[in-house]
Amino acid sequence: MKQYRIAPSILSADFARLGQDVKAVCDAGADLIHIDVMDNHYVPNLTVGPLVCKALKAYGIKVPLDVHLMVEPVDSLIPMFVEAGADYITFHPEATRHVDRTIELIKSLGCKPGLAFNPATPLSWFDYTLSKLDMVLLMTVNPGFGGQAFIPEMFLKIKKTRELMDKVKSHALLVIDGGVKLDNIAKIAEAGADTFVAGSAIFGTSNYQETISSLREALAAS
Ligand code: DX5
Ligand code: ZN
Repeated sequence: MKQYRIAPSILSADFARLGQDVKAVCDAGADLIHIDVMDNHYVPNLTVGPLVCKALKAYGIKVPLDVHLMVEPVDSLIPMFVEAGADYITFHPEATRHVDRTIELIKSLGCKPGLAFNPATPLSWFDYTLSKLDMVLLMTVNPGFGGQAFIPEMFLKIKKTRELMDKVKSHALLVIDGGVKLDNIAKIAEAGADTFVAGSAIFGTSNYQETISSLREALAAS
């Protein structure tokens, strides 16, 4: 069976007790921890910086940290996030002037690069980048907030992305971010995704173990 990954987004975690909440979700079987970095410039919201990654690592979080940068510009923050323990760094191509340079910068620091696509961002950004990427992240809501509804037109985009990736035998994770829920995760997997960011669908429930198991059961049945 295909290997699926669940990446809880800390955007919906309890920030007053972040370490404990993230540890709980790791104990419940999270494969990655998704960290949404927002700057009130590229997106209309403001969240966390590298020190939160560093604090989570220091707290003993061993699960890989998947840092989703929704910031502009991008490059100056990358060394700081690598230093803070990021395992993946994903950025939006519209937010940097030289996309290839940003990818190479992430790789040169020993970190895994990812490219993030807004719902209306065309897949042509892949033309000369896909073979260099360890992560492809498709936003299935407009970035900036947790708890929004999945945009149905994105099923076709996931399918097209998977086809492009198969064509060049890409090893990157195909990550879906936004509106992933128990009732649509199987359909998203069927469209070709292998990694699922879920914020409100996980942190909005009281038993993470049960929630993650149900998500995995839905995936197994897909
Ligand atoms: C939105 C963020 C998402 C967000 C998803 O800009 O990139 O990672 O946390 O939240 P849910 O899963 O609640 O849609
Ligand atoms: Zn995200």
